[in-house]
Amino acid sequence: MDKLIIKGGVPLKGTINVSGSKNAALPILTACLLAKGPVRLTNVPRLRDINTTLKLLNILGCETTFEDNVVTAQVKELKPEAPYELVKTMRASVLCLGPLLGLLGEAKVALPGGCAIGARPVDLHLKALERMGAKFILDSGYIHGICGGLVGARIMFDFPTVGGTENLLMAASVAKGCTILENCAREPEVVDLANFLIAMGARIRGAGTSVIEVEGVRELKGCEYRVMPDRIEAGTYLVAGAITDGELKLVDCPLEDLDALVTKLREMNVYVEKQTDGTVLVHRNGPLMGVDVVTQPHPGFPTDMQAQVMALMCVAEGSGSIQEKIFENRFMHVSELGRMGARITLKDRTAMVRGVEHLEGAPVMASDLRASASLVLAGLVAKGTTEIQRIYHLDRGYERMEEKLSAVGAIIRREPE
Ligand code: UD1
Repeated sequence: MDKLIIKGGVPLKGTINVSGSKNAALPILTACLLAKGPVRLTNVPRLRDINTTLKLLNILGCETTFEDNVVTAQVKELKPEAPYELVKTMRASVLCLGPLLGLLGEAKVALPGGCAIGARPVDLHLKALERMGAKFILDSGYIHGICGGLVGARIMFDFPTVGGTENLLMAASVAKGCTILENCAREPEVVDLANFLIAMGARIRGAGTSVIEVEGVRELKGCEYRVMPDRIEAGTYLVAGAITDGELKLVDCPLEDLDALVTKLREMNVYVEKQTDGTVLVHRNGPLMGVDVVTQPHPGFPTDMQAQVMALMCVAEGSGSIQEKIFENRFMHVSELGRMGARITLKDRTAMVRGVEHLEGAPVMASDLRASASLVLAGLVAKGTTEIQRIYHLDRGYERMEEKLSAVGAIIRREPE
């Protein structure tokens, strides 16, 4: 296991290229299971979760290659079982339920693991697939689903679940008849998956709104597709520019997908604007101010940016609050930030943050993906040295983070623990 060592206090200056989106690439890779012909995906980030998904595809009978951010995939012979060894490390594995049931009429997928940020059940995925004719039993830690072909249905999600919407989009694309999905997740990654499925020949209308209509087709063909840029990685680097009082330019930054974050950053006194050359410039406009943030499904403030903005609020003037409405237990970074001198009090799902003049470097422990990013950000501004252990979480979601940060001046290095 590696650790990151950061010497804080350097204002970051320069240009960072935003990588392809992890959360778009994962469902898109899984959707390759549906293609009859070869698929070529570009802008795929080199991350641990991507490698895990490629292994999963191989086990399920889809051959892949991965070089220079390009994945090729070709289904040979589909198999229905996703083993525990892979699924336990990545919750998104559950996304193969939809394609497997749709094509094979059977799927056996281990109950997922992933980030330890709450219960994160998959009941909404299962309930929706049941509406299309699937039957599930829980068998020794595996979800075993069977159907005699999925049939289109009208499905209302109890909550706009991202993974659930994606699973059903894939299932409905190859089901018999028309499916109407209501109260869908409106995240840009759902739209990217829908656009990919459409490029393969699927008939989908309304992705990005709460109601999506899918007319099932007999088969989907191969295609070439570029994965959207990662809005959460981009958001993390926007915060990096602001927290270090530096000036960063982001290339391929999907600002239009970051409205809620950018609104809060501007309230905090951070300048974020698209430039005429298409890059996005970020720097402080004045002293950072505390704000109140509530995480919500898209287009609300993304839960995946909550921890990073909390780090920023730790060094802002005055107080602010962060209410977490998506995941009940996504505050593991609070105690670690506290070890660095942050003043945060937690009550139920709300963190009250009182800004301090400076954070102090300290040994801290990464607990989940975005929590790790918040500790890196805190380390970049803290006085002295911060040592972040267990950074394998970061490697799940940020492509070459320490390289990108050192290229803009950060003093950061990776060492074996
Ligand atoms: C995706 C993202 C994750 C992000 C989250 C919310 C990927 C790979 N991951 O996760 O980074 O933080 O969206 O934006 O894209 N829920 C249920 N039952 C279900 C499904 C979800 O109760 O069947 C609950 C979850 O426990 C959670 C909430 O709904 O509290 C949101 O989950 P969901 O939108 O499904 O998130 P993921 O797809 O897991």
